[in-house]
Amino acid sequence: MKISVIGCGYLGAVHAATLASMGHTVVGIDVDAAKVNQLGRGVAPFFEPGLDELLRDGTATGRLTFSTDFGAAAGAQVHFLCVGTPQSKTSDGADLTFLVAATEALLPHLAGGAVVVGKSTVPVGTVDMLSDVLAGRPDVQLGWNPEFLRQGTAVKDTLVPDRLVYGVSGGKAAAFNPGTGAPRGVTAALDAVYEPLLNAGIPRLVCNFATAELIKSAANAYLATKVSFINAIAELCDASGADVAELSEAMGMDPRIGSRYLHAGLGFGGGCLPKDIRSLSSQAAALGVAPVNDWMGVVDAINVRQRTRTVDLAAGLCGGELSGRAVTILGAAFKPETDDIRDSPALDVATRLAAAGAHVTVTDPKAVNNAWLRYPQLRFESSTARALEGAELVLLLTEWDEYRRLSPALAGGLVRRRVVLDGRNVLDAAAWRAEGWMVRGLGTNSGEAVQTAEDGLAGMRQS
Ligand SMILES: NC(=O)c1ccc[n+]([C@@H]2O[C@H](COP(=O)([O-])OP(=O)(O)OC[C@H]3O[C@@H](n4cnc5c(N)ncnc54)[C@H](O)[C@@H]3O)[C@@H](O)[C@H]2O)c1
Repeated sequence: MKISVIGCGYLGAVHAATLASMGHTVVGIDVDAAKVNQLGRGVAPFFEPGLDELLRDGTATGRLTFSTDFGAAAGAQVHFLCVGTPQSKTSDGADLTFLVAATEALLPHLAGGAVVVGKSTVPVGTVDMLSDVLAGRPDVQLGWNPEFLRQGTAVKDTLVPDRLVYGVSGGKAAAFNPGTGAPRGVTAALDAVYEPLLNAGIPRLVCNFATAELIKSAANAYLATKVSFINAIAELCDASGADVAELSEAMGMDPRIGSRYLHAGLGFGGGCLPKDIRSLSSQAAALGVAPVNDWMGVVDAINVRQRTRTVDLAAGLCGGELSGRAVTILGAAFKPETDDIRDSPALDVATRLAAAGAHVTVTDPKAVNNAWLRYPQLRFESSTARALEGAELVLLLTEWDEYRRLSPALAGGLVRRRVVLDGRNVLDAAAWRAEGWMVRGLGTNSGEAVQTAEDGLAGMRQS
């Protein structure tokens, strides 16, 4: 089947490459000429495990091509819209201008009977809006197929998703032939696209447009809620002498709760979760559903508060004065296994520390190249060892495996003071303390640890 993928960022490039690996003929279209050029050479323009190999294979077979020319999409039976839907610059809502522009640019190249399927995360009502753009083409059908991939495991998530969701006009009742039960319209087209996944037993759910539009936002809102819940409890742990790591381990053993996304720390960032909960909040406000609007506001506020708490803790660990202190930050990406720095909690904390006068050095296994141009107030080092040299305070803010496994003895030989703030609660605190480090975390500073920190602080004030 010939397929076009419009928008070749973190979502679209992976989608295009995996569709080609399933045997389809795929053209990826993007307005960013540099990105298209790189993709066309079979090289991923960002770090995503497994993507380079898929791009290399796809472009080598000739089944996968990329272009800036929407005309290259002509003749495709299915067109996937994968452009960005960032937070609007003027409100909490999503900015849909890229989606409208992409659909308008595609319009003259749509063949009769073509299917246009959105994958971007969008607010309820988006399909109606795009239907207006396609109003002159009753021969073209529209569908929505929200995407649940996670950066860092995007290739696997796309090839082995937990489920496929199809939003179609009229919902499930209209998706199948009443006589034979055979899928029709958009459902039939998507079944043909995803045939290998369906044959492998991946569940497929068919629903109406509003449900398909809301599912992704609701799923992200739930994950964000879980993270902010445990982070709020972490603050309670610090106030009460409890340990949030032990608490969440015990909570997570209850299968009704589960341990994933129940790990206290600096909180979430990136190009999806923060803007998706704000978009949901703004949709709820517009629809007059105050509880969802209020709820998302609290989840967002707790998340942002983690960053402030981290900066306050760092200041405390520097005897209350950050000015002139050499601070090293481990991590710049918004999470491990990606080089994406969109709304990175680590870089947010780094810039706040720099604004308070600290001399901040940031290191990251993959994201330094993306970050250094945008943050001239920070110093970047690609080598962890060099970044640690002379540090008076170390903050672990993105939990790359490399940092989890860091040797406290080795790191101790490089820094000026053995003080670490583990903003992701991933270090073996006992092993680090055994090497003479003062270790602080978020919600893990119970009893003895607090005592140790105070002893250390007194030492720092004297020095
Ligand atoms: N990144 C993820 O993990 C993820 C997961 C699921 C869903 N999503 C959703 O997918 C969408 C895309 O996210 P992303 O992370 O890939 O964003 P991105 O910024 O990495 O990619 C968007 C791409 O669209 C291109 N683009 C913009 N306007 C265009 C136009 N008119 N025509 C063609 N291309 C155009 C941009 O140049 C860019 O390459 C968003 O709605 C996001 O919420 C993202």
